[in-house]
Amino acid sequence: MNISDDHLPSYIYTYPTKDAYRPFTDWKKAVSGFSNVVGKINLYIHIPFCEMKCAFCNLFTVTKNPRSVIERYLECLLKEIEIVRPYLLLDKLEVQSVYFGGGTPSLLNIDDLSSIIQRLKTLFIISNEAEWSIEGAPNSFTQQKFSDLKNLGFNRVSLGIQAFNPKLLHTTSRHYESTLGEVIAKMAIESGIKNVNLDLIYGLPGQSLEEWCQDLSIACKLFPATLTLYPLAVRKRTFFGKKEMQDFLPPCELYRWYDISSNFLEKMGYSQNTFVTYSKNGGGCQHEAQQFQGIPTLSFGSGARKYAPAIHFADEDYHNRLPHTITLKKYMETIEKEELLVSSAAFLTSRDQLMQKVILGILSSGVKEPGECMHLILELKKKDLVVETELGYTLTKQGMRHSSSIAQWLIEKTHVLV
Ligand SMILES: C[S@@+](CC[C@H](N)C(=O)[O-])C[C@H]1O[C@@H](n2cnc3c(N)ncnc32)[C@H](O)[C@@H]1O
Ligand code: SF4
Repeated sequence: MNISDDHLPSYIYTYPTKDAYRPFTDWKKAVSGFSNVVGKINLYIHIPFCEMKCAFCNLFTVTKNPRSVIERYLECLLKEIEIVRPYLLLDKLEVQSVYFGGGTPSLLNIDDLSSIIQRLKTLFIISNEAEWSIEGAPNSFTQQKFSDLKNLGFNRVSLGIQAFNPKLLHTTSRHYESTLGEVIAKMAIESGIKNVNLDLIYGLPGQSLEEWCQDLSIACKLFPATLTLYPLAVRKRTFFGKKEMQDFLPPCELYRWYDISSNFLEKMGYSQNTFVTYSKNGGGCQHEAQQFQGIPTLSFGSGARKYAPAIHFADEDYHNRLPHTITLKKYMETIEKEELLVSSAAFLTSRDQLMQKVILGILSSGVKEPGECMHLILELKKKDLVVETELGYTLTKQGMRHSSSIAQWLIEKTHVLV
């Protein structure tokens, strides 16, 4: 087990991870994975459009989109819902969360969002307590937009602030006015939308610890219900990915910044939910929490993965990645032929489903019955990384600090068991 300050693997939020996906194109078989799903489910709507390509970001996004492409995509989204519909036990599903992610879904106008929401509401039984989230960069929001989003039923907004500091915001290739982040965050919180999340990244090239602490303090003074602090992950196929490694902080420094940040947020009254997420007063992210508990997620749109209990699948092939513009075009052409684009999948045996429960459980709210993984949990307990509580086995403070390494170790161990 590599639990050291020299090792900080990427944040894990799904199991199996992308590298377990294999080429798979039988879309009917894939979507049939949802045919026996009853009870709780999450919906995810992927909007891949962005105004800019940020220097750190390798997410499924496309820029420079004329309105005609956006309209065609939205028609495809509605059509995709119709294609999937016969495979679902609609009257036995209860939607717990509807998440508009991206990309920048807040670039859509209110009529666009409203037509998707109306379609979902007529088809699905959506819990009155459901979380309705939308994410986006600050330059895609206005006061009117927040008020319209609230009227549409959104109760969670996630703002990709990344940095308040003008120099660092510029480093991320964001060229809007640097005061906008703070103005928009304040506006979001004052709009009455209950759960506002602010995303910040630490360890940006050229960032000093002092500059990071200033940004964190600006965020805290706004007192959002949720704060998500990501250590910079240098991704291939990004602008940062082309830079020299010495331009970035080594893992031991990122851990030091993590310690300072998590201690500071604790003092400010936040509780830590995962390695990156902190919340207070009903904050957090139900969508992610439910996904971590193994509740299936049905997604619509190009670049979104669908998580049925025994199969996870995507329209991308992660081993032979195509430019996002090509996948998006293929997605729309396939939907227009009344079919789904499926390019890769990971199949989950009942044992894999247990691993999923154990790995994602330990990363968040805890695991009650680790079954055949018990010996692994006990090994973590012996090292004081895990403790037994009324919630089951949960991470200690030290365990949370090294949760990405623990997840990676569990994944390696469970692969060996296959
Ligand atoms: C799904 S993204 C989209 C957010 C939204 N489009 C925006 O930029 O405002 C959610 C968050 O992941 C974080 N993120 C994305 N790529 C990252 C990377 N390479 N390293 C660290 N954090 C990253 C960013 O903070 C981002 O806001
Ligand atoms: S960080 Fe957000 S706005 Fe920037 S490219 Fe990624 S998804 Fe788009």
